[in-house]
Amino acid sequence: MKIVTILGSPRKRGNTAAVLQAFEALVSIEHQVERINITDYHVAGCRGCDHCFGELTEPGCLQKDDAVRLLARILAADVVVYACPVYCWSFPAQLKALLDRHYCLVKWQDGEVAAALMTGKRVALLVTCGGEADDNADLIQVMFDREIAYVRGVVVGKYVVANCTTPAELGERAAATARRMVREIIGGWAGLCSEITPTPPCKSRHICNHVTM
Ligand SMILES: Cc1cc2nc3c(=O)[nH]c(=O)nc-3n(C[C@H](O)[C@H](O)[C@H](O)COP(=O)(O)O)c2cc1C
Repeated sequence: MKIVTILGSPRKRGNTAAVLQAFEALVSIEHQVERINITDYHVAGCRGCDHCFGELTEPGCLQKDDAVRLLARILAADVVVYACPVYCWSFPAQLKALLDRHYCLVKWQDGEVAAALMTGKRVALLVTCGGEADDNADLIQVMFDREIAYVRGVVVGKYVVANCTTPAELGERAAATARRMVREIIGGWAGLCSEITPTPPCKSRHICNHVTM
């Protein structure tokens, strides 16, 4: 399986990166993992010109930045994990720009959707935040659900790691979240022994009875 992860934080060694890295370490044993660090790329905002609607099988965006290349990597994946900190109850602007650019994947013609290039794509959301999850990391999840429904994708998991301070203090919470993500996102994959943390996980292909958070 090919898994694309997107780090939507400008901090490559921050809280989100710590949890995402733990997830990547687990899945990369059996699957191909490809990371996109959003701040390594230039993604401008959508211009809303609707030129893309005329191209049914391609993104068809006129802008010459990195967005179309990144969308191609997303479309080629079996699973995409969008990971970011909560910024002002929402997505960091760098990731929001890419999410807005997903607009070109849904082709409207004569008031109907003529094609939706992300149809059936399995995606997940991982967010970290400094505050509580409730009344804080709720809006970002609603926005994600709406966006993915719009592009006809399938949300296979949403994960909030709340009350974050530093990556070092995340400790077992990062590993536990990563294990849960593997279980729920990758599904049928051989279980991981919870005793073995954070890496290396159990490499055996049996379904381990010790899968717990
Ligand atoms: C500009 C900015 C806005 C933030 N807004 C929120 C917020 O609305 N709610 C919250 O709980 N934390 C907020 N935070 C804290 C981050 O979400 C939190 O520290 C996160 O774990 C940082 O992740 P990172 O280390 O991967 O960048 C904000 C941080 C910044 C820099």
